[in-house]
Amino acid sequence: MSSRPSLVALGALVALVALTQPACNRSDCPPPAATTPPAATTPPPAAPVTAKADCGALTGANAVQTEMRMLECTLALVVTAIGRNDLASVPPAIATLHAAKEATEQALHAGAYKPVNGDVAAFAALDEAFHDSLVTLVQAAAANDHAGTAAAMGTVLGGCQGCHATFRPTVPPAPSTPSAAPTAHTH
Ligand code: HEC
Repeated sequence: MSSRPSLVALGALVALVALTQPACNRSDCPPPAATTPPAATTPPPAAPVTAKADCGALTGANAVQTEMRMLECTLALVVTAIGRNDLASVPPAIATLHAAKEATEQALHAGAYKPVNGDVAAFAALDEAFHDSLVTLVQAAAANDHAGTAAAMGTVLGGCQGCHATFRPTVPPAPSTPSAAPTAHTH
């Protein structure tokens, strides 16, 4: 009967206008309301670092490669544990490497893994010394000794290249750029 638009249609029109009209121009926009709540600054506590990565499940093409992949993964957990004051998680994380070390020893013994230059004794000695440095790391962490854990971690990391320089045949590409070929620098 009435020619006036229904209330519903009117409401829709108002909503459409409100959506299509900018609330303000760049220049006349009011400053953000002072009542805007600040962003939360305290995220919930992180889960224990050892729960984040199953380093012990990693495998490689041979016993040493398996051990190395687990090692790299585990040491990243140790860095996290140091930064988060969670040293109690270090000993169980390092313990996952134990079986890998045994497997390397057996492979060396059985001749299943041959160091590139054939010097099994030198390789085994380096491996042994390296694992001693891991024991020091575990002991410092178990004693909740922060400075000692960090220093032991430095010693552990210092041992990588001593072995790689002689015994690592190839340097694998970084995991994040598996297909990126190294570019030659011309300058
Ligand atoms: C006793 C010798 C030795 C020590 C010590 C050692 N490595 Fe290795 N590492 C090797 C050898 C040998 C390889 C090559 C294994 C292969 O590809 O067959 C290797 C390979 C690797 C790889 C490549 C694994 C892959 O995916 O191919 C990583 C990563 C690695 N090592 C990390 C480390 C880190 C980190 C340390 C020190 C904290 C370390 N290694 C200490 C002998 C060693």
